[in-house]
Amino acid sequence: MCFPLQDVTKRLNIMNFQIAGEHKFPSAREPSSRFNSLEAIDWNFPGRVRKNGLEAIHPYPAKFIPDLPGTILDLLPVEPGTIVLDPFVGSGTTLVECQRRGISSAGVDLNPIACLISRVKTRPLPKDLDHAIAHLLNEAKNSRRTKIPPIPNLDHWFEGHVQIALVRILASIEASPAQFQDVFRLALSSIMVRVSNQDSDTRYAAVDKKIGHDQVASLFAQACERINISLQERDYVLLPTQVLQSDTLRVRASDFKHKVGAVITSPPYPNAYEYWLYHKYRMWWLGYDPLSVKEQEIGARAHFFKTNHHTADNFIQQMRGTFKLISSVLTLNGYACFVVGRSKIHGKIIDNARLIETVAREFGFYLTFRTERVIAANRKSFNLSHAAIKTESVIVFARANA
Ligand SMILES: C[S@@+](CC[C@H](N)C(=O)[O-])C[C@H]1O[C@@H](n2cnc3c(N)ncnc32)[C@H](O)[C@@H]1O
Repeated sequence: MCFPLQDVTKRLNIMNFQIAGEHKFPSAREPSSRFNSLEAIDWNFPGRVRKNGLEAIHPYPAKFIPDLPGTILDLLPVEPGTIVLDPFVGSGTTLVECQRRGISSAGVDLNPIACLISRVKTRPLPKDLDHAIAHLLNEAKNSRRTKIPPIPNLDHWFEGHVQIALVRILASIEASPAQFQDVFRLALSSIMVRVSNQDSDTRYAAVDKKIGHDQVASLFAQACERINISLQERDYVLLPTQVLQSDTLRVRASDFKHKVGAVITSPPYPNAYEYWLYHKYRMWWLGYDPLSVKEQEIGARAHFFKTNHHTADNFIQQMRGTFKLISSVLTLNGYACFVVGRSKIHGKIIDNARLIETVAREFGFYLTFRTERVIAANRKSFNLSHAAIKTESVIVFARANA
């Protein structure tokens, strides 16, 4: 059953929605007892300690704290023989937490940097990485390459000598054996903002950082070593994980080898984070096209500030596409957990969790659990108006006919 988009918006009275902490929504069915354990959790995880370097292997906006997918997996085990799916996998936090628990998983993301991070975090450490790093640094040092790729506005954001150093490291990466390339590309990506003139990951202002002539190579070497150590620290079996670089709205059930027992995800939402913008120069340098990522990125600010701009209805439609996929892959007893914040579109607050619940119901799911958690103050976004939105919702759905 699908309602015309305008009707959905009217029925929910979305535009007048007030932020008021916790909300109870009528469910198609009473929650079953298997979801009761979620009520006892403090979803702010006040005692959380950072477990290892894997979390910080590469910056990523709005990533999960690992305790979030980890707690869901501990309280709501998945059926044997099924996998966990994160359709907006970002930096792969869900995949790592699944791997730690011996659960197979798959992740989808549009952003090639997200997929690169997710692959490196979940794949085995290539043998002889130390030797390969030393070899690459030597190659880059002896390289005479000077041909700079045609990247827009490059001179504004990168000093001339930094551009040359990056070109030489990149050429040496391309010449290195295939099994090392992801680790090297991730290391280079992780230092890109540091060696640029960009003030910080979330502040697009050019500043003179006085990057020294050998500094790019030494920062790259340190990044390789940091990644090497983080990967070596993994003390669990590295079950194979599937990382699919795609627009989730184009993914089909046949793209996965197994049925899905649980979906755990934090979807992008309108006008909040800009994943493509955050990684724009990383993508240019690594040979990807950030502008095509921007076009398909759900919620990107650019879509909300043009003639015929996007509205909450576009998000509803995108979540319909997401639930179409979920309902085609999820087992009867499976569940879907979303963590999502609110949006401010042209001054109006939108309760995205509530929109998602409406869509979920159209696909025969009911809400079994909803709570609010505080968004960490250090979770920076380009969108300053977003700073006024302090909490996000954790919502869990099950099939009404299970
Ligand atoms: C909130 S982030 C996910 C963060 C993730 N939970 C983590 O721990 O890193 C949302 C992700 O959705 C991705 N995304 C946006 N539009 C997409 C689309 N159409 N298809 C697939 N992924 C998309 C973004 O690139 C971003 O990585």
